[in-house]
Amino acid sequence: SRPVTIPQLQHWKQQGRPITMLTAWDFLLAEILDRAGVDVILVGDSLGMVALGYPTTLPVTLDQMVHHSQAVRRGVKRALLVADLPCLSYQQSSTQALQSAGRLLQEAGVQAVKLEGAYPSAIRAVTILVEVGIPVLGHVGLTPQAIHQLGSFRQQGQSAAAADAIIRDALALEAAGVFGIILEHIPADLAEVMTQKLRVPTIGIGAGPHCDGQVLVTADLLGLSAQSPPFAPAYAHLRGTIHQAVTAYCQDVQQNRFGQT
Ligand code: KIV
Ligand code: NA
Repeated sequence: SRPVTIPQLQHWKQQGRPITMLTAWDFLLAEILDRAGVDVILVGDSLGMVALGYPTTLPVTLDQMVHHSQAVRRGVKRALLVADLPCLSYQQSSTQALQSAGRLLQEAGVQAVKLEGAYPSAIRAVTILVEVGIPVLGHVGLTPQAIHQLGSFRQQGQSAAAADAIIRDALALEAAGVFGIILEHIPADLAEVMTQKLRVPTIGIGAGPHCDGQVLVTADLLGLSAQSPPFAPAYAHLRGTIHQAVTAYCQDVQQNRFGQT
């Protein structure tokens, strides 16, 4: 089918057609996701934790995001390809935001970028990028680049005041021109209200069933991660499957059975 576009995502929201989104960090998985019909593929900075083994997403560099986005790009034909702007790659100035997003679009061929938060420098980045025609996806609720300020990966927006602040953030991002907003780890009823209030699609992760779309970290979906958040269901258990395959191979080699049958 035809490549997914940003206007199509808006249209799908109006039609009530749910949007599917998953993360990828390499060619191999990206190609499988794309052929399976995932609408949006995100080169998320969660790759820092999942693929690179860091305890947070903070150490991820723009060079790493470009490198992984290039690999994913080679595997994706239909899905809309989005990459995360990593920690502190967009807040310093409009120039920095343009240069960072520009590298992801020009060197890696992604079609849009995502950034976290709705504080003034994040809004400024959205505004300048949208002004020059670079689509931006917002991200509110649990924003992992702010982990040291949040203190833990716990659910956000639990008090009425915190919920109101998240709604205000999302509306400010929409006014600045984002084409959609990730809602991460917030109460389902808050996500439902936001999905009704916003004209742009909401894509939830740990935000209940009432969003316009859903996103998961693919390693969690596949049961590859050693630990995954409580809101991320595993649709396969590949960690165990791979462990079994590797131990069977090792035994065959060690017991001189490899290639005998
Ligand atoms: O980096 C990531 O994987 C993300 C998703 C959880 C939305 O930002
Ligand atoms: Na991310």
